[in-house]
This record gives sequence, structure tokens and C-alpha cells, in this order.
Amino acid sequence: MTVRSQTSNRVSTDVIKSGSGGDRRYSRRAVARVTPAQSLLGWYDRHARHLPWRIPPQQSKRGERQDPYKVWLSEIMLQQTTVQAVAPYYAAFIERWPTVGDLAKASDDDIRSAWAGLGYYRRAANLHKCAKVVAETGGHFPTTAAQLADLPGIGAYTSAAIASIAFGEAVPVVDGNVERVFSRVFRLTSSGPKLKKEVTDKLRPLVPRDRPGDFAQATMDLGATICTPRNPVCALCPLTSTCDAHRYGDAERFPVKEPKKAKPVRFGAAQVIVRPADGAIWCEKRPEDGLLPGMTQVPTSDWSASPAPVFDGERIGTIQHVFTHFALTLDVYRVASSKAPSDGGWWAGPEQIAKQAWPTVMIKVLRAALPERAESLRGGKGR
Ligand code: ADE
Repeated sequence: MTVRSQTSNRVSTDVIKSGSGGDRRYSRRAVARVTPAQSLLGWYDRHARHLPWRIPPQQSKRGERQDPYKVWLSEIMLQQTTVQAVAPYYAAFIERWPTVGDLAKASDDDIRSAWAGLGYYRRAANLHKCAKVVAETGGHFPTTAAQLADLPGIGAYTSAAIASIAFGEAVPVVDGNVERVFSRVFRLTSSGPKLKKEVTDKLRPLVPRDRPGDFAQATMDLGATICTPRNPVCALCPLTSTCDAHRYGDAERFPVKEPKKAKPVRFGAAQVIVRPADGAIWCEKRPEDGLLPGMTQVPTSDWSASPAPVFDGERIGTIQHVFTHFALTLDVYRVASSKAPSDGGWWAGPEQIAKQAWPTVMIKVLRAALPERAESLRGGKGR
């Protein structure tokens, strides 16, 4: 796309020249055009968010690049998860596994427990797989989006983000924030994958070759802080002179929403078994394939469309949890027993309970059944 002249900010520089006899007149009027990318980068230089996985624009402008391991780890964590939720997990991972080689050597269970509460648990399994592949090749990540996309857990968005931020490849990086910003700038009326493709195509020629990673992160920051879904702060936006929706005064109409399909509803029951002697609770490991692979759970029925079965013990109440593909209502029971209900589980003593790889749905179950422990059970944001 070529940027239309009216979409550029014009900065006029009046050059005042003193003539003979002291009369001052305009002799030359230079018009410097600032492209949307320059305008956005100027804004980023002043307002970039300080994020633990990021090097500030002042450093990246000097040609410094962030460690690809840190970029990769943060981008995997940031898939479907907010910056605020990711920050403590990112810090804990980097402290415990400072290099991709360290992460490759970790055990599945350690990674799963460290990931617990962040949600979308397949990411943790793929993270480990990917770390092993990269460690086998000397700990060096491939440097282009096309090569990165061959690694486990790295799709179109993440490969572009890593390639541009860690390696300076001039590729468009289009996440939900970026879609929103540019659906407004270009007043695009499509939605879903079509919108993603249109934004990607329109952005490709706009990505500045000298600072592609900063451009990507600037767009994300703009989407997160200024060009927000509701009440965008257009008065502070560096792209207003370029933005068609701003001109029409209807930024909030974009992106046009796809009609939401109602999620199917499922029901089940979960049983928290507490051993009276020491307050230990019975834990099981979920299957390695399927939903919440390998995570810890308390005994539970199937989660299905039929009404939940009745379990032994005191019925505490219900909890709700919304997964990507269905909404779950679980009846929670608590029972005192010292008898292991199956072969394939373990007792977690009071000190060990919080350290298990509980997905958020199970944290909700435990908080309901063990209100006295609610404080120590992290309420993760994930699925
Ligand atoms: N969301 C996903 N990746 C991000 C990044 N690098 N900076 C800010 N927000 C992000």
C-alpha cells in the first residue's frame, strides 16, 4: 500500500532568512513528511511500556537486540494471556531456567507446575518440546519467521514476533491489538481470519526496515494503552492524521465483531478427599492427551452434556469455568477419608498442596472445598 499524501503528518519548517536592509521574509518553505511508521516510532520512543522481556527503544535504536530465548518465552506466555498475568511467571521461569538449554533439561513435571495457573497448558508441553529442539542445535533459535514457524508451538503470529523483535526481520506482526489498531486506521469492515489477512497485507509495506521489532511492539502498546476496545484516547494517538475511523469519528465501531457462537455447556462433579490424620488431599494426573494434558486434578466425573452424577460426601456448591470450547459447571464435594480411591494418584500433604500443577478450574474447586486454604491457592487467570 502506498500511503496517501493526506495520511501523512506534515511538519512544515519555515526557514526565515534575513535579507539586506534587515527585512525578514520567508524565502523557502520546506515540507518534511512524517510517515505513519515514523510517527508511531516517535511515540514509542517516548511512551514504550517497561516490560521485563523488552529492551527499551533507546537501546534497540543502537542496534541492541533482546536475547531470542527471552523473546520466545515471553511471546509463548503472552499468547491468549495478559501482560499482567504473564509478568510473574516470566520472571520465575527466567530465574529458574536462564537459558533455553536449562529449560530443555528441566523435567516435564517441573515445567507443568511452574506453568500452573497460566492456562492453555498445551503451550507448556510445546515449550518444552521446542526448547529441546533448539538445545539440540546448540541453543540457537532460527532467525527467520519461516524457519521459526517449523518449531513446536510457534504459529504465524509468534514466528513473526520473534523474527522481528529478536532478529530484526521486517515482517508484519498481527495480534488482536494490531488488528484493532489497523482495522480503525483503514476502516476495514471484515472480521476473523479475513481481517487478519487484510491487516497483514496492508502492514507489510509499512514495516520499517530499520526498526521492525520496535514497530511491532509500538503497535501492540498503542493497542493496549491508547487504541483500546472502548473509549480510545484518540487525542493522544500518533496515528490520528492517518486514521480513517478517526476522521469519521467512529473508531469504536472497529473491528467489526464476528457474531459470537454460544458455547456448549457441560456438567460434572469433583470430589476433594481430605485425609483426616494430616489434611492431605488426594491428587490424580490428567491424561497426557486431551484437555489440560498431564495437569493435576482431584477425582472428577466426565464433563458432559448430561446431568452430573452424585458423589459421596458433603456437597459444597458449584463452580463455573469457561474453556475455549465449552462452559463447565462442576458440583464440588468434600469428603474425609484415608482410603486411596485408585492406584494412579497420590496424597499431597498440607505443604505440597499449593505446589501441584493445578489448572485454574481445579483451583476454583479447591478454594470452594477448602476455604481455609484459599489464600495459599493461587487463582490463576488461565484456562
Ligand atoms: N503481547 C504479545 N507480545 C507482546 C510484546 N512483545 N509486547 C507487548 N505486548 C505483547
